[in-house]
Amino acid sequence: MIVPMKLAVLTGGGDAPGLNAVIRGVVRQATQDGNEVIGFRDGWRGVMEDEWMALDVEGCRGLLTRGGTILGTTRLNPFMTEDGRDKCRATFEKNGVDALISIGGEGTLSCTQEMHKLGFPVIGVPKTIDNDIGLTEMTFGFATAVDIATEAIGRLHTTAESHDRVIVVEVMGRHVGHIATWAGLAGGATLTLIPEHPFDIVEVCDALRRRHDRGKYSSIVVVAEGAKPRPGSFEIPDASFDEFGHIKLGGIGELVASQITERTGFETRTTVLGYVQRGGEPSAHDRVLATWFGVEAARAADEKDFGSMIAYQCGEMTRVRISDAVAELKYVNPRLFEVASTFFA
Ligand code: F6P
Repeated sequence: MIVPMKLAVLTGGGDAPGLNAVIRGVVRQATQDGNEVIGFRDGWRGVMEDEWMALDVEGCRGLLTRGGTILGTTRLNPFMTEDGRDKCRATFEKNGVDALISIGGEGTLSCTQEMHKLGFPVIGVPKTIDNDIGLTEMTFGFATAVDIATEAIGRLHTTAESHDRVIVVEVMGRHVGHIATWAGLAGGATLTLIPEHPFDIVEVCDALRRRHDRGKYSSIVVVAEGAKPRPGSFEIPDASFDEFGHIKLGGIGELVASQITERTGFETRTTVLGYVQRGGEPSAHDRVLATWFGVEAARAADEKDFGSMIAYQCGEMTRVRISDAVAELKYVNPRLFEVASTFFA
């Protein structure tokens, strides 16, 4: 006789469009496999504090298109407190959890991997609009964020042209510049600045001046929030850190804009896209990807392939080890960045 499993799901870290579609995918597949699903509330907080909700197909209706996460999310990390791990173990035992599907970014997945090392039966699903998780070509939420940023850049072009202004658009991207590169390219930005390539403010200003000399009086400069000036270029203030030890960013766009004004005299404005990139409905692409991730995660749990992460590679969903996926971030393809940088300036 096949004994049904009790699967649990959690969503950790920053939200991303498609999280609910993953949850729905997990629940539908698990139900077909004869398994039961619960969802821990607010990421690892729900595991530590034994807070969860039952999930079934009926309760997941409408989730395919819904932004955010019905489970809630935090960056709480069980390794931050002495008894965090014991509390998680107690919750697993009390509720008879046979597998945990942990949907998260680099911070949540690293923590999931540590729990796996302690013997917890975990499966990882990569989540981040930043698209920076290793061994998966794409994470859900990224395409939606790129669409939102691209649309915004398109709108900023017309106002920049009307006023002969430079507009600096700050997009998300803490360690990597995938959103900046894709949206900059898709939106026809003059310059794109990303964390992988520290920029020289003198070169930025020279490129804008050359453009103005050619009679193009407006420019769009896309800046990833983690972009950094080359040492000696100009000073940026010290940053603070979150619970996973990640740097808290925001503000580089304004700093770049004031440098441009100071050095060129061009009228410059800043737009920080911020959380609109993470909110709202997932695009069609992300609904498909997220559902597929969810279904494959439920299958991996049913097969007890613990310690694995679902990864999208060459048009297929495959499984990799979480430890390998979090070993190194996935950076922007240098050739693509070259294309994005040399086309317009
Ligand atoms: O993880 C994705 C991300 O969007 C980063 O680009 C950004 O730095 C971070 O989340 C900010 O999230 P929060 O303010 O929710 O911590």
